[in-house]
Amino acid sequence: MQKPPIITIDGPSGTGKGSVAKAVADRLGFALLDSGALYRTLGIAVLRHGIALEEPQLIADLALKLDIEFGRNGPDSVCLDGVDVSQAIRTEQGSDMASRVGSIALARSALLQRQLNFRRPPGLVADGRDMGTVVFPDAQVKIFLTASAEERAQRRYKQLIGKGIDAILLDLLRDLQERDERDSIRPISPLKPAEDATILDTTKLDLAQVIEQVMTLVSGKLPGLNL
Ligand code: DC
Repeated sequence: MQKPPIITIDGPSGTGKGSVAKAVADRLGFALLDSGALYRTLGIAVLRHGIALEEPQLIADLALKLDIEFGRNGPDSVCLDGVDVSQAIRTEQGSDMASRVGSIALARSALLQRQLNFRRPPGLVADGRDMGTVVFPDAQVKIFLTASAEERAQRRYKQLIGKGIDAILLDLLRDLQERDERDSIRPISPLKPAEDATILDTTKLDLAQVIEQVMTLVSGKLPGLNL
């Protein structure tokens, strides 16, 4: 039996990956894997369990038995051990911890099977850093979204201010560049496009334009979907 098709959307934060992946999954009726949410939840779990980042084996053990539930309190909600952490994982601390646990090889292997389990009919849209390179190298459609660091920091700034959260643009830019650097130079699953990925620069595009371009690519590569 043929495996369900996969569309991977990778790239640094602030490129609109998450929103694009969600919109594309909705349009196609596909399942969605927000792998960043897994890393974020693991990061928050590490904090809550008081585990030091210098303890990779303990972090991997925690990752294996992590009780995560998506969607219980609404489509974007995430529960950890039955407690809603949807807000906590989206804070700057959540971003920072996700990037830190994401650079631990043992933690990445521990989360691999969980990610593979998201593949189901009629198909999956997976967003993250290494979806097209490591987790689903056999994906039919691979997209890598980019945008300038300044534009990405601006987007994050507007998002936070829109939620009534105080933010300083230059601090956001610095933190984002630090995380990009950490995600890109790590030896395991670094942030980089798969060789067969289509790179899409979103700096001058709005969300609707990015979604349209992705849908055009998908219909070219998965003609059987009759879009
Ligand atoms: O996609 P995001 O911004 O929610 O991801 C947050 C952090 O999680 C990111 O800085 C690196 C890590 N991450 C990862 O290492 N691998 C993934 N597939 C997804 C996220």
